[in-house]
Amino acid sequence: MIDYPEKLDLAQTPTPFYSLDRLSERLGGPRIWIKRDDLTGAATSGNKIRKLEFLFAEALASGCDTVITSGGVQSNHCRAVAVLGAQLGLKVHLLLRSDIAPQPVGNLLLDQLAGATISHYSVAEFEQLDRLFERWQSHYTDLGSRAYSIPTGGSNGTGMWGYIAAAEELSRDFQREGIVTAQIVHATGSGGTQAGLMLGCYLHQLNASVKAYAVCDDNAYFTDKVRADLQQWQSQYSPETDISILQADTCDQYVGPAYGVAGEEIFTMIKQIAASDGILLDPVYTGKAFYGMIEDIKQSKFTANDIVFVHTGGLFGLFAQQQQLGY
Ligand SMILES: Cc1ncc(COP(=O)(O)O)c(C=O)c1O
Repeated sequence: MIDYPEKLDLAQTPTPFYSLDRLSERLGGPRIWIKRDDLTGAATSGNKIRKLEFLFAEALASGCDTVITSGGVQSNHCRAVAVLGAQLGLKVHLLLRSDIAPQPVGNLLLDQLAGATISHYSVAEFEQLDRLFERWQSHYTDLGSRAYSIPTGGSNGTGMWGYIAAAEELSRDFQREGIVTAQIVHATGSGGTQAGLMLGCYLHQLNASVKAYAVCDDNAYFTDKVRADLQQWQSQYSPETDISILQADTCDQYVGPAYGVAGEEIFTMIKQIAASDGILLDPVYTGKAFYGMIEDIKQSKFTANDIVFVHTGGLFGLFAQQQQLGY
């Protein structure tokens, strides 16, 4: 039995889990399953809400009235924080990164609708992100408020519980569908989903490996980030758990031109999969990971008979790249 910390009931779970038979047939390959974590909510949809169930519980327990968090200008995480903050009656302050004047579309539109305070910073300014957090934290203290800071992507030891719990949900999906061994694949950005799934599979004894497709940075970055998050979790919650065998398996081959920038092939595939399977992917996260999975299946890089794609959401990012889709 795993002793979970306090959490709020915010996500629509368990999320659907089913096989993409036509896609498997087209590829002549393994059975491909999809875990629809893009359906964890409407404006709060995606992987972040699973982490935020634990992070907001901690925030409320701390007696805060304000939540500060950060991300790219089209961050799905920041949008989920903005909407959940409004839902829970907390003020939200977003520190958003962008080098160009952002259009109020997609996630940013929802951030604004949800009434978040937004501070825009350049990529260079974001290099001092820790300082920015400290500055705003003391700003709120000076005002007599109490602010709770959530790191980029909600990826830390606390947020990781969201995907430890998701792995437990997956173990029930596997049991129901008779899946014995699987390779779980997903998009990785700030490393928390990856670390949580790896740890969750280990703690819940799933016979499954986790392969993450990077949407930014490289292999070495994720090895270090995942290790740091795991160590933080261990020291905070479970010093007796041996995490030394957990090694991140990250593929950085399909990052493309940059974070948030995708090549033509990604947009083509997004359109194909939407039309052939009714699955909506985004060009920042899930599109790159799904593309990587398909390429790796074609190159016979998977050994398991069952591949599980965790759809981590990101739909609103699609609206911010309408032109790149050719419409
Ligand atoms: C849609 C989507 N998929 C995947 C990820 C990656 O998750 P993580 O930040 O936990 O690595 C994110 C957030 O960064 C996201 O918004």
